[in-house]
Amino acid sequence: MAHRHTQGRAVGVDIGGSGIKGAPVDLAAGELAADRIRIETPQPATPDAVAAVVAQIVGQCPEGPVGVTFPAVIQHGVARTAANVDKAWIDTDVEALLRGATGRAVTVVNDADAAGLAEARWGAARDVDGVVIVTTLGTGIGSALLLDGDLVPNTELGHIEVDGHDAETRAADSAREREDLSWEQWAKRLQRYYEALERLFWPDLFVVGGGVSKKHEKFLPLLELRTPIVPALLRNNAGIVGAAALAAERAA
Ligand code: BGC
Repeated sequence: MAHRHTQGRAVGVDIGGSGIKGAPVDLAAGELAADRIRIETPQPATPDAVAAVVAQIVGQCPEGPVGVTFPAVIQHGVARTAANVDKAWIDTDVEALLRGATGRAVTVVNDADAAGLAEARWGAARDVDGVVIVTTLGTGIGSALLLDGDLVPNTELGHIEVDGHDAETRAADSAREREDLSWEQWAKRLQRYYEALERLFWPDLFVVGGGVSKKHEKFLPLLELRTPIVPALLRNNAGIVGAAALAAERAA
């Protein structure tokens, strides 16, 4: 198990569909070092409009490396997909865009990867050896795959095919809300989803994040899996903390 002791401070920013949130992060504790700033995501959420908001938030945070989450595949700083964001992001060099807008060194990472890394360092998967899959249930389904605490980026397990459908269109929290599903109805879909992941990856642990994970007692007990499944611990701040940690490591 690799032990990492990331020290010092960095700034984390989480770009989401409805809000863009940021704060300085205390990396020894894995916690926000000051109150989070939140600004509504501009609509349409084009690259330039979002970059301006990120710059506004970063401008109110102390010096230091900046880590930013984005809800798409991010290959070496470049967005490659846009399942739930403006299609203009595809092939945008998000790191270069945000470096230009903020005047700071910026590391960009997939949102679920950032959250998963934070859970592995400070949260529900802390000190867990072996294969861990962190899923975030929100507008879409995000995933992070970790082996002994090391991240394999951009797994996109929300898009596996389950029962003939792109999994997130049926099992994301947005599907539960849109279709007004009961917890039992939604849990049936989650059961099919996590069974499929189990068959493919044989993980040692599932961690479930996303806003709905604070209501985990409504649906996690309904699942029957061979893999232990637990709620995320860092909740809303996992993305900010994970992105800041990655930025600090890159700067070190
Ligand atoms: C995207 C992922 C993202 C997830 C959660 C999915 O639709 O493809 O990149 O991590 O939503 O935001």
